Amino acid sequence: MAGIYIHIPFCKTRCHYCDFYKSTDFSARIDFLSALKKEMILRKYEVNDELIESIYFGGGTPSVLNINEIDIILQLIFSLFDIHPQIEITLEANPDDLNEPFVQALTGTGINRVSIGIQSFNDHDLKAMNRRHNSVQAINSVKNAREAGIENLSIDLIYGLPNQSLKDWEKNVDLAISMNVSHISAYHLTYHEGTVFYDYLKAGKIREISDELSLAQFKLLKHRLEQTGYEHYEISNFARDGQYSRHNRSYWERKSYIGFGPSAHSFDQRTRRWNVSNLREYLQAMEGETAFWEDEILSTQDQYNDYMITSLRTMWGVSSEYLESVFDNRFNHYFKKEAQPFIDTGHMLYDGRIYTLSEEGLFISDKIMEKLFFIG
Ligand SMILES: C[S@@+](CC[C@H](N)C(=O)[O-])C[C@H]1O[C@@H](n2cnc3c(N)ncnc32)[C@H](O)[C@@H]1O
Ligand code: SF4
Repeated sequence: MAGIYIHIPFCKTRCHYCDFYKSTDFSARIDFLSALKKEMILRKYEVNDELIESIYFGGGTPSVLNINEIDIILQLIFSLFDIHPQIEITLEANPDDLNEPFVQALTGTGINRVSIGIQSFNDHDLKAMNRRHNSVQAINSVKNAREAGIENLSIDLIYGLPNQSLKDWEKNVDLAISMNVSHISAYHLTYHEGTVFYDYLKAGKIREISDELSLAQFKLLKHRLEQTGYEHYEISNFARDGQYSRHNRSYWERKSYIGFGPSAHSFDQRTRRWNVSNLREYLQAMEGETAFWEDEILSTQDQYNDYMITSLRTMWGVSSEYLESVFDNRFNHYFKKEAQPFIDTGHMLYDGRIYTLSEEGLFISDKIMEKLFFIG
């Protein structure tokens, strides 16, 4: 078992781009924490005596929890499961929550990695996204966390924003580099149905940036970060000195993980399972015996498609040895036939052992993966 994921389903406000499961109503906070504890105890048997190598508090906004609540959850995990001595424990945090007393106290809980949702250092962008923080708070949140002794720091940025010029993005990337953090995640904006940005787009109030500008922003990001010592190890992720996100890496390496809380996913090599994305239904289910998840048993075809999505995203790529040892000829022939045109155009690289995406290939990774999917 590689990791434990805990979904904290609360946010003080909703950002205009975000479709992660969350509620802005905190009235069920105490009930949620009780239900979460109950779920961990009920599902302990799924983990057996496997060693837990990472814990990830995601959301929603895990930093709305107070120190006592984080401590109680972690103490329960430590008492229920076998924990690796060098475990990575990450908390996703919003900059406005990372004040000095909070981060000082956080280090005493066992949290040793903080992923800060900066999104942008530009006040105009932050306002447009309906973020709760401004650029000064963004910079201070990183300083506060570092001064509290949290060395393993990651920041999230979003690019491809409406009206974001290449110059605007360049300033953001340069500011991110000046923060001197060990890890940077930079995501291209996706318009999800049900979000304010999606509605604005449909109503013509905002426009998607052009493909040319998107590509220019991606290249600038990649080149500037690589020049300053970051390794581009996954489509949206960059790390210095091998400080990859151990938790996310285990997703891409298809190790088992267990997810607690509404909308949390779990994977045990053969089955994928996802908890209901509704806090009220989750609470009701935890009170009684009703089902609160759905699952699917993965066929060989699902496992092959999964391997494509997870491996091609990373610099470790698709291994021909793994393909041949795990999947039969049908899948191997199919993969080679579909991959060849991308190798010919330079979108994919093959060194005789590993297939990876080139810079141009990474930018159109969704299209490439679609072609490589096996639809039986
Ligand atoms: C679970 S979310 C947010 C965690 C935390 N609540 C925050 O806001 O900082 C994790 C990250 O996904 C990214 N993200 C969320 N929605 C996105 C979207 N529609 N397009 C691109 N990136 C997105 C953001 O960078 C965000 O920090
Ligand atoms: S981006 Fe973070 S704070 Fe904003 S709505 Fe999504 S989970 Fe909540």
